[in-house]
Amino acid sequence: MKKTLLLLAATTAVTLASTGAALLEKKCASCHMLEKPEFSQLPTLKAPAMDAVVFHINLAMENDKEKKAFIADYVLNPDASKSVCESNKVAQFGVMPSQKGKVSKEELELIATELLATYPHKAFVTMIKEMQSNDKINALKSAPFLVNHEGLPHMTKLLIQNWDKAKLGLTKEQKEKLLVVREETLSAVKALKKQLKPLEASVAEAMIDREDPKSVEKTLEQIAKLKIEGTKVHLKCIAETTSILSEEQVAFLLPFWE
Ligand code: HEC
Repeated sequence: MKKTLLLLAATTAVTLASTGAALLEKKCASCHMLEKPEFSQLPTLKAPAMDAVVFHINLAMENDKEKKAFIADYVLNPDASKSVCESNKVAQFGVMPSQKGKVSKEELELIATELLATYPHKAFVTMIKEMQSNDKINALKSAPFLVNHEGLPHMTKLLIQNWDKAKLGLTKEQKEKLLVVREETLSAVKALKKQLKPLEASVAEAMIDREDPKSVEKTLEQIAKLKIEGTKVHLKCIAETTSILSEEQVAFLLPFWE
């Protein structure tokens, strides 16, 4: 009787130790935060939170079989070109060190099932959606453009986020050309912003000082002219970028803007 009980206890212990949740805690939690991260914790993480990892996997893939295969492969053979996370984020964290020898294929099967069943937490998705929409609004708000319609993509940003992805497949030559366009665009936009800032401040000041709106009309015209220049830079950037990319590459990128 005692022996049976002991055996039972031992079996239970083994089963517990090898559940997906326990494995996740043991093999992945030293780098990946398993709870939903608070907004303020994001800059302090040494790897993306599991919520973020699965959020991106869900964006990139449709069926569970493909997702599980991706997770099992990435843990053993990580590579920036396979990553579904944003390329600039991967560069910031550094590519994940391979966990070969530390986790078995069988364990990865359990871990992947647990990941897909648990993540992302609803509250995380809400937080990320809010952050993305704030980013977009802020980018448009500070942009010196006349046409800030949501439909006009921020090509340089989309490219940075997808730069190293094998699915986008940028060639070395394309990357070189794109970097030139990016450099030219950024420096032109920066110069325009620098000129706009004091002009816009002087309009605001005049109105706070209760001056006649007519007194700032000339300044308004200067602002408008600079914004026309900015809009031309923006459209030129989109045209030059899309001419470097193939149709398939543009089609790959655009959904990330929506
Ligand atoms: C030594 C730290 C470390 C450990 C341990 C670790 N990871 Fe990672 N992982 C990272 C970092 C850093 C990234 C972000 C860079 C990247 O994507 O390669 C990452 C990214 C990932 C990604 C996203 C890949 C993508 O598309 O970019 C997956 C999936 C992942 N980890 C799964 C796991 C699982 C499952 C475990 C446990 C078996 C684990 N990781 C253990 C550091 C770690």
